[in-house]
Amino acid sequence: MSASRRPAFDIISHSPDQTRALGAQLGRLLERGDIVLLSGAIGSGKTTFTQGLARALKVREPVGSPTFTLVVEHDGYDAHDHPIRLYHVDLYRIADAGDAATFGFEDIVNTADGVAVVEWPERAQPLLPAEFLAVHLSWVADTKRQIEFVPRGQRYVALVDRLHSEVVSVRS
Ligand SMILES: Nc1ncnc2c1ncn2[C@@H]1O[C@H](COP(=O)(O)OP(=O)(O)OP(=O)(O)O)[C@@H](O)[C@H]1O
Ligand SMILES: [Mg+2]
Repeated sequence: MSASRRPAFDIISHSPDQTRALGAQLGRLLERGDIVLLSGAIGSGKTTFTQGLARALKVREPVGSPTFTLVVEHDGYDAHDHPIRLYHVDLYRIADAGDAATFGFEDIVNTADGVAVVEWPERAQPLLPAEFLAVHLSWVADTKRQIEFVPRGQRYVALVDRLHSEVVSVRS
């Protein structure tokens, strides 16, 4: 890997609002077709991060946990004010990848009309696309979380690179 390629970076969030702000910074960079996989234990902040991401996409309704419906679609607008759909998927309740197949998970992660954000993606491992942005959240202390961004594929290497530059410039 060349020196100009920053494969991944991580950052500590000190509050739910800071996690939402990071989600918003990512949200502003997203384009139709992008896939964001959010992993981490219960309460690590996946939904909180998604709330910030949705705010950046100008989603009006509140973003909660789509635990009982598996997927919630939100209409928003991208950075150029063009309509963009946010598919918020939560696979916590599915038993295996076969369940994910039944509700059209593959169509969602291969969508061209919006961005897909997936909580508990490991539940549908065999159906995951080859390229995506993985975001790993982990509990550090009561209000502290570590958030790691790991790109898979060229598009996401570039995305993480931009995100890193913006996060560093805001924080420093
Ligand atoms: N720095 C932080 N970042 C994110 N959430 C935080 C932080 N500090 C405290 N919290 C709290 O942790 C909880 C995170 O809940 P959230 O629903 O986002 O987690 P989750 O990863 O989506 O869980 P689940 O697997 O159940 O869907 C919230 O109550 C939030 O207020
Ligand atoms: Mg959640």
